[in-house]
Amino acid sequence: MTKTFFIETWGCQMNDLDSQRLSGSLKLRGYQRVENESAADLILLNTCSIRDKSEQKVFSHLGRLREMKAAREDLRIGVCGCVAQQEGEAILHRAPWVDFVMGPGNVGHIDQILAGERRVAIDFPEDRNYDYLTVDRPSATKAQVTIIEGCNKNCTFCIVPTTRGREVSRPFDDVLREVRAAVDSGRVEIELLGQTVNAYRCPVSGRDFGALLGAVAEVDRVARLRFMTSHPAEVSDSMIAAMRDHENISRYLHLPVQSGSSRVLRRMKRLYTREHYLDTIARIRAAIPEIQFSTDVIVGFPGETEEDFEQTISLMTEVGYGSLFAFKYSPRPGTPALKLGAPVDDDVASERLNRLFDLHEQFKREHLGSYRGRILPVLVEGPSKHDPSMLTGRTDDNVVVNFSGDPSTRPGSMLGVRIEQAQHHTLRGEAVA
Ligand code: SAH
Ligand code: F3S
Repeated sequence: MTKTFFIETWGCQMNDLDSQRLSGSLKLRGYQRVENESAADLILLNTCSIRDKSEQKVFSHLGRLREMKAAREDLRIGVCGCVAQQEGEAILHRAPWVDFVMGPGNVGHIDQILAGERRVAIDFPEDRNYDYLTVDRPSATKAQVTIIEGCNKNCTFCIVPTTRGREVSRPFDDVLREVRAAVDSGRVEIELLGQTVNAYRCPVSGRDFGALLGAVAEVDRVARLRFMTSHPAEVSDSMIAAMRDHENISRYLHLPVQSGSSRVLRRMKRLYTREHYLDTIARIRAAIPEIQFSTDVIVGFPGETEEDFEQTISLMTEVGYGSLFAFKYSPRPGTPALKLGAPVDDDVASERLNRLFDLHEQFKREHLGSYRGRILPVLVEGPSKHDPSMLTGRTDDNVVVNFSGDPSTRPGSMLGVRIEQAQHHTLRGEAVA
């Protein structure tokens, strides 16, 4: 009988891609994917530990699986991802009904783990066994491609350097081969991934991120190229030049600032000041005037005063982001920020977070509203889920557009769409000839 598996994925794009890799290897071994936990012989939880809340979700989910496991001897449960990496063996003590624990470095070694060779696999093997041809990509038009794993920055609040290890860049030619294979399968939108994607450096030739961006943009039929996440201190002239010179590179850049106060940035060890960050934005805008930005902000970092926070607010309006993601600081085990004193009082942090959420709503409204009446290039994904008589696709800045147009339009085509209406998080329009 065919074995079945279920994967639940939390967290960032890297986790999404790890799940796509796990799913691909399992299918290759004859497993069938199911969307219902109770129909699965193998349950994988691909976990996130970036904030305490994400971690708690995992343990409450594991709690619910306890009974299922008690009722079915043959069910296997595996914990993968960053909580697995961080907690390791401790998960087996806290939840003994878990069969194995596997960190992000071992995604390529799921075979050994399923064969029962190891119950706890949280090392970072030299050979990550990255088989890009078997990645089970959920989209017919888009492929995510890792170019660099791990992170060498040690932002004092962040758990990622512990859970994902040191930076390892993939060879330039290897990345290009994966991109070509993805395009051959119809995935004309490419998203390059890394925790600090723009720190990329080819381990063979030494070529930098700008060189790779240019080379990927020039691969035949790449219609749109995105990348996540750039670190402000790693924005180089070659990266800016590659973006300027290739129109298929998205004009929407996610550049996390975390705080608008240089004093807080220093305590976070972000490696830039407010002035340096604003200067980077200005450099990019000078080369690519139509560029738009989005950002991440942390509120309530230990020692953040009202004045510090007001500097964050003023930076938000100064840059004029199209979108913003804001988080309350969450103390993470073993991180240097634990020694910087107590986090800001929770009520104060919540109030600051709400002020940022209000700003986000305003940014989003203005940003989407500014599209009304304009014709935007939209990459078609297929018929709309809610209304199959309409098509759906995305703008350059990743906003979903539902629009009327020729129903026989091939997924992966680029169309001009006149925007008629801006809804809460999506746009509506009509394809133009
Ligand atoms: N390098 C990647 C991953 C960072 S995690 C990136 O920049 O996307 C994503 C965001 O989570 C960070 O930018 C930061 O704003 C937030 N974050 C990270 N650690 C946090 C913590 N301990 N508490 C609250 N937010 C955190
Ligand atoms: Fe985390 Fe800073 Fe790296 S936010 S992922 S340590 S750049």
